[in-house]
Amino acid sequence: MSTSASVAPSAVPSSDVLVVGGGVIGLVTAWRAAQRGLSTAVLDPGPGGGAAQVAAGMLAAVTELHHGEQTLLGLNLESARRYPEFAAELTDCTGHDLGHRRCGTLAVALDADDRAHLRELHVLHNASGLGSEWLSGRECRRLEPMLAPGVRGGLRVDDDHQIDPRRLAAALVVACERAGVVFHRVWAERLTVARGRATGVLGADGTAFAAGQVVLAAGSLSGRLAGVPAEVLPPVRPVKGQVLRLSVPARYAPFLSRTVRAVVRGSQVYLVPRENGELVVGATSEELGWDTTVTAGGVYALLRDAHELIPGITELPLTETRAGLRPASPDNAPLLGPTALPGLLLATGHHRNGVLLTPVTGDVLAHVLTTGELPELARPFTPRRFRTADRAVQPA
Ligand code: GLY
Repeated sequence: MSTSASVAPSAVPSSDVLVVGGGVIGLVTAWRAAQRGLSTAVLDPGPGGGAAQVAAGMLAAVTELHHGEQTLLGLNLESARRYPEFAAELTDCTGHDLGHRRCGTLAVALDADDRAHLRELHVLHNASGLGSEWLSGRECRRLEPMLAPGVRGGLRVDDDHQIDPRRLAAALVVACERAGVVFHRVWAERLTVARGRATGVLGADGTAFAAGQVVLAAGSLSGRLAGVPAEVLPPVRPVKGQVLRLSVPARYAPFLSRTVRAVVRGSQVYLVPRENGELVVGATSEELGWDTTVTAGGVYALLRDAHELIPGITELPLTETRAGLRPASPDNAPLLGPTALPGLLLATGHHRNGVLLTPVTGDVLAHVLTTGELPELARPFTPRRFRTADRAVQPA
């Protein structure tokens, strides 16, 4: 996971839990573990970075539902249910405003194909017991007057909200510090394994970090840590998302009062309005390996699709363009909990739902780190589901 050359291992800082990766998933795991009395360290050269720096922060269990993902839906809904209490606790602990906005979402259709797609989603919502209401184009525009006159209908979903992921990450760093989590600001070079057990991580600076349990929570990089036996290496791959940030001048406010999204010509586009005037427009979904280039084509496609939904968007200042990497797993669901290598746990593969799944991931990992047991709701997400047999790992 690093490009620097290894040098001889030196001193041995040790902890009960060592979390590799200081994105929101690694941080929430560390915070919750430390709150349960475990001495905890995080290995990351820039804690609070990662995919959350790019993410829009939609808490969209309902509008991001896809056919075949009903098991994941249960976990997403549970995390959404925990969000208000989680956000309040984090704000109490740090004093940080997380930009948690209970604004709801409107998913709209621009043409007959989009409308058919949205009708199918509505049927799936009904079959899954989820609250969404079909609206005519006129009713959509009554809710959001900036919508294009051509909008053919939409789904009103009052339970899909948003949080500002950059604020979330910054608050989690502070919460970790307050809970006594130690940050080692280096890249992880290699997992160390002895007598068939993970024993820690060798840092890129040559430091050997020892730990009773290691949690690999390095997002899309999780499958790249040297020393992890092939049988337990997480099958995660990077899926690129390009995202734009615009700002809404006070004279245009309120530009949008809720998240607006659509599938336009087969691509997702969403506009997430923050209370502070920022408008996030995302996101492309590209299987291009480790590439994080912001391309003219990506920006063009997002602006073109967003403009079809909300023509007035072209008046707004464009303040940022950025690309990040979603950590995708083969079934689009996260890998949570122990691997077949004793001492090595995973918290990765959250794909499109990392910000949404932050609260439940912290709770699940804290539970398993303290009891050794995966809670019932997390059992479908065991990393072992990707193995045909629960193979024992050969002692190193
Ligand atoms: N959850 C939104 C995205 O991944 O683009």
